[in-house]
Amino acid sequence: MKVLTAPLETQNYCRNRRAEGKQIGLVPTMGFLHEGHLSLVRGARGDNDCVVVSIFVNPTQFGPNEDFQSYPRDLERDCCLLEAEGVDLIFAPTAEEMYPTNSATFVEVAGSITKGLCGASRPNHFRGVTTVVSKLFNVVHPHRAYFGQKDAQQLAVIKRMVSDLNMDIKIVPMPIIREPDGLAMSSRNRYLNPEARRSATVLHRSLQLAKGLIEGGERNAEKVIAAIREMIEQAKLARIDYVEIVDVEGLEPVEEIEGEILIALAVFISEPRLIDNLHIRVPSK
Ligand code: PAF
Repeated sequence: MKVLTAPLETQNYCRNRRAEGKQIGLVPTMGFLHEGHLSLVRGARGDNDCVVVSIFVNPTQFGPNEDFQSYPRDLERDCCLLEAEGVDLIFAPTAEEMYPTNSATFVEVAGSITKGLCGASRPNHFRGVTTVVSKLFNVVHPHRAYFGQKDAQQLAVIKRMVSDLNMDIKIVPMPIIREPDGLAMSSRNRYLNPEARRSATVLHRSLQLAKGLIEGGERNAEKVIAAIREMIEQAKLARIDYVEIVDVEGLEPVEEIEGEILIALAVFISEPRLIDNLHIRVPSK
């Protein structure tokens, strides 16, 4: 397994693999890997001849009061995990290599898809994500790129960018990986103290409650949202950022639950803000 930090060297490595007729799969990450990331890597390993994993804590997607400085990092451990998964190349640039001082270009998906949900409380977050993902795509030129469904809005925004900009890359969505008690895996779970960790299961439990209501015939989005909020508000240390039911493509709020919908939530559990979602297909009447 190779570890490179320079974009140009990485570009040359990937160009040579493509010239050999190899299919390249890219797994973009911010490191501090867990089973969720490794499931993306295994997906990429199954579909491609060459697997590239990027590890870069991207400063442009963090707001001024967010956890960029304290975001967990452990490159040595990440390298061991990725070597065991048979990864071909780790691309781990520094911030200076990714954003030289004269860097002045951003890629932005406009409209409600980036303004609602997480975009409402993290105003420039998706602009940072689409900029860095475009740069990673330009460096690696993968045939396929793998993203987790836990970050459902990120996935929808990246699909939209790829389609709008005619990028010749297949975006492969991968299922949410959960702890045995249902908590979605996230690098930020490590911020939870034992009491907060117990409370954090309320995200998944409230989504299961919503699923049960919808399976029982409830179609009024407002009522389902109210039931979710009531359950979360009773959990210790929990403070809701948002609970919404939206259509899966444009992420616009729906009034009536039908077709393909996403129940998305963001909740502060003590300090950390956790997100989770449930994608449901409800037959139209
Ligand atoms: O999902 C993440 O870890 C990041 O947002 C990504 C896609 C690697 C871009 O920095």
